[in-house]
Amino acid sequence: MDAKTLSNLETAFKAAPSSELAKVIVLAQLELGATEGLLDYLGHLELPLEQVDALPIGQGLLERGHHQAVIDLMDREVPAQAVLLARSLLALGKDQEAKDVYAAAVEQAPAVQSEELNVRWGYHGGARPRLRVVERPDEDAVADLTKYRQETTSFDDVVGLTHIKKQISKKIILPFQKPSLYQRFRKKVGGGVLLFGPPGCGKTLLARATAGECNAEFYSIMASDVLNLYIGESEENLHGIFEKARESVPCVLFFDELEALAGKREHSRNANMNLVSQFLAEMDGFAQNNSGVLVLASTNVPWSIDGAFLRPGRFDRMLFVPPPDEVARAAILAHHMRERPSDGATNYKLLATKTRGFSGADLYNLVEMAADEAIEESIEANREIEIQPSHFYHAIQDCRPTTTEWLTTAKNYARYANDGGRYNDVLSFLKAHGK
Ligand SMILES: Nc1ncnc2c1ncn2[C@@H]1O[C@H](COP(=O)(O)OP(=O)(O)O)[C@@H](O)[C@H]1O
Ligand SMILES: [Mg+2]
Repeated sequence: MDAKTLSNLETAFKAAPSSELAKVIVLAQLELGATEGLLDYLGHLELPLEQVDALPIGQGLLERGHHQAVIDLMDREVPAQAVLLARSLLALGKDQEAKDVYAAAVEQAPAVQSEELNVRWGYHGGARPRLRVVERPDEDAVADLTKYRQETTSFDDVVGLTHIKKQISKKIILPFQKPSLYQRFRKKVGGGVLLFGPPGCGKTLLARATAGECNAEFYSIMASDVLNLYIGESEENLHGIFEKARESVPCVLFFDELEALAGKREHSRNANMNLVSQFLAEMDGFAQNNSGVLVLASTNVPWSIDGAFLRPGRFDRMLFVPPPDEVARAAILAHHMRERPSDGATNYKLLATKTRGFSGADLYNLVEMAADEAIEESIEANREIEIQPSHFYHAIQDCRPTTTEWLTTAKNYARYANDGGRYNDVLSFLKAHGK
């Protein structure tokens, strides 16, 4: 949101005050750092605050030293909020009460622990502070991350996408390779990056290559690894995965198809809400030290991701992975043909002009189908027949581009719901391709 919109909202509020509007204004004021009038609106908020909004509001108030407001607004029954409450109590010198609130919160949800508070109150059980000893045998908890480990690759395996590779190098890989330089400038290494774009255009491929380029372990997590039928188990699984990742830095945690775990809460069942809150708590620096853990995620439907994930400190960098252009399409075809018998007559550049809107996966599929044709002919002829142009021209009759529909949907979001310019790259892409 920009200052002008905020000021319009403030005018609207004067005309017709409502708690809903007050909340929007408070969040905007915090986001923009325009907090002169903040306290005037707090009295209009409806309590208890919804979980989604409570944390950013609480944290903003805490950072600006409005401790009484934090105490008034935060719900001590919700662990992550209780920690903020404890910090404010502490700041006001109510040490004992702060300690009690904190202990209760951590008892309920160990994930919200803060190293600093643990140390202050002597909850110091070795290098990894723990308040609670879990007695029951933890069969289902994540024993180690090895089952999620995947081979990494390098950027050479991802054809094209030069622009996005450059951005990844600058924003992700360099900080990993030169941590001390970044530390000297007080820059955080790690954090969250969300790759988005049409299906089959290389998001998963890029994530794996990024881990390889960082020289970090790569753990790929699917929603099914986390989701569990039993209440509370999914949260625990997720917490376990993050805990282990923090112990194995430097590493890349990759959440493929993030929407399955981080979908909008208004669309989901109650059980999912807790999971989303847990995920948010894991990503937030105030609960734990995520330094050295790069959280990468991918999605085809960024507009379905709960907005809270896209706030600062979480997946605050979004990178658009576009469909391949003509040059890239030719290169991808050649790449997937490189180890197959071919008569050398196929003109990939020409094929590229006939495969507008094809994703990398569509192109791979086309190569596979051409190969099938060649195999069939070989069997009939009883000798090896190499892949040749005719195979491609047959195969292409049965292939359809799959990125067009995605781009149409994305265009609408980019035009009408382009919060903070998050879809600007999509708009530039559409413009450059005359759409
Ligand atoms: N830039 C690319 N270079 C080479 N192959 C690609 C590229 N993009 C997509 N592919 C092919 O398409 C397949 C699917 O890509 P993937 O990364 O899984 O897409 P998604 O964006 O849906 O995660 C890959 O396994 C690869 O065969
Ligand atoms: Mg994928």
